Amino acid sequence: MVKKNIDWENIGFSYMQTDKRYVSNYKDGKWDEGVLTDDANITMNECAGVLQYAQTVFEGMKAYTTEDGRIVTFRPDLNAARMVDSAKRLEMPVFPEDRFVDAVVQTVKANAAYVPPYGSGATLYIRPYMFGINPVIGVKPADEYQFRVFTTPVGPYFKGGAKPITICVSDFDRAAPHGTGHIKAGLNYAMSLHAIVTAHANGFDENMYLDSATRTKVEETGGANFIFVTKDNKVVTPHSNTILPSITRRSIMYVAEHYLGLEVEERDVYFDEVKDFAECGLCGTAAVISPVGKVVDHGKEICFPSGMEKMGPITQKLYDTLTGIQMGHIEAPEGWLKVIE
Ligand code: PLP
Ligand code: COI
Repeated sequence: MVKKNIDWENIGFSYMQTDKRYVSNYKDGKWDEGVLTDDANITMNECAGVLQYAQTVFEGMKAYTTEDGRIVTFRPDLNAARMVDSAKRLEMPVFPEDRFVDAVVQTVKANAAYVPPYGSGATLYIRPYMFGINPVIGVKPADEYQFRVFTTPVGPYFKGGAKPITICVSDFDRAAPHGTGHIKAGLNYAMSLHAIVTAHANGFDENMYLDSATRTKVEETGGANFIFVTKDNKVVTPHSNTILPSITRRSIMYVAEHYLGLEVEERDVYFDEVKDFAECGLCGTAAVISPVGKVVDHGKEICFPSGMEKMGPITQKLYDTLTGIQMGHIEAPEGWLKVIE
């Protein structure tokens, strides 16, 4: 297989159309067998459930080329399970977990020429998603759905790659108690657009959302969970029922404890204690681990001792170990890598 002629080292996090995508339709209470197609466009009725009432959920994953030339994905079973949770919360039918993984494998295989080479710094982003497609005018779930998977090669989510970013405490809320913050629903991202545009206009890279009930606890950003490192090298991450249960964060906490022998804590993290941490990072499939150098709370700056030039030492170790596992040069825990070819 000949790789596409793409400037892998310099691509950003944006959409590039690839050759094939997977489509399966749900009608009369069942999913059809699913196919790969060349057609990147979707035709639907003007009154489709997704267009009127935002009935859509999605996942984000990546395919990597390992040092020895295999193509792998990272813990796709967890994305499949999370999509089940997302679908149930939006009253959508479940796409079976084994079929989800199979659809991802088929789509990546069919686009293998777009999987960036080992060491290029780029990866193939995979976007499984599902939406209500038949006309719905009264507020109710659709009866027909489409599940799709497309892929697109991507570089770093934040410009500057591993350079520390500056974030601001948002005046907007991302998720309500007992709402949909814990699932990957398109609606959570639609309502974050004004907040991110505002943050960018004010010169910040991202938002730090606080819990909307008390505005005293750290939640997450628009597209990543937080990890913090204490001055005595403990890795701390916020516990909350209104944040997305990040697969990257769960993996980092495992790596911190079992590979690096660090103490880990998943607990309430009060905004008041952020100033006492030594390091801060954003973690997610797109973000990988992006270091945060500064948090600005309405003009008050919190500058982490790790500074604005490079990742803090513990964040760097976590990053190296996690990406080493994903790229196949550090042995992965049983079941973490799914070899595609
Ligand atoms: N939080 C939000 C709101 C996200 O959109 C994402 C991205 O998927 C994450 C956290 C990170 O989750 P994961 O590590 O599973 O990609
Ligand atoms: C991901 O990390 O996969 C996401 O879906 C987050 C999004 C901001 C790109």
